[in-house]
Amino acid sequence: MRSALIIVTIDGPAASGKTSVSRLIASRRGWAWVSTGAFYRGLAYVASREGIAVNDELALAKLCLSPIWRVQMGEDRTRVYLHDEDVTDEIYSEEIGAGASLVSRFPKVRANLLTAQRACANSISGLVAEGRDCGTVVFPKAQVKFYLTAGTLDRAERRARQQGGNVEEMRQAQVKRDHQDSSRQTAPMQIPSLAHVVDTTSMTLDQVVEQVDAIIVKELAEQHLSHL
Ligand code: DC
Repeated sequence: MRSALIIVTIDGPAASGKTSVSRLIASRRGWAWVSTGAFYRGLAYVASREGIAVNDELALAKLCLSPIWRVQMGEDRTRVYLHDEDVTDEIYSEEIGAGASLVSRFPKVRANLLTAQRACANSISGLVAEGRDCGTVVFPKAQVKFYLTAGTLDRAERRARQQGGNVEEMRQAQVKRDHQDSSRQTAPMQIPSLAHVVDTTSMTLDQVVEQVDAIIVKELAEQHLSHL
């Protein structure tokens, strides 16, 4: 068995369970995890606070590199700070999700956030990274890749349960966001090659975690990598 930095990627559409699964897998294995969506949500939120329009690619790209805000991995959530104020609670609404989807279309924005996203793998033994392009662009050499999906109604119900709100409105907002995320030219959401596709419709979170973890253990053993 070799020991190496293990990177597992979990991509998939809105509210497919990526965050909950990543957090639980990371805690089970003693690894770190990151929601790359927090970078785009943080950018959308900070842009609105700074009065920058969601279609101003150059200003947004500049804001990506500004020291006024930062993203920080945590065991429970990937946190965002603006002027050292923790604004994490503000970024996880569907409204900011829609803004994140808009700002994430721009190639210059994506390029400017990539270094900070990749830096999440520094100085740790294992990382679970979740988002839309983790297995294709951010960590194309990840040892194990997943694509999590679920029916649109299931996903809308899950998110409405967590955040409140109308299920049908949530479903429509997510469908729109998924369409934008999968049809953009740069780093669109797609199933990475060699990814394990897990359809979580009607599965409990525990069942999904068991299935994902079993695949990780098997894949790492086949690659002669230690997962401990
Ligand atoms: O995973 P999330 O819902 O927090 O992501 C919010 C938006 O950010 C998503 O609709 C598109 C964008 N995003 C992206 O373009 N690439 C990623 N790797 C993660 C998120």
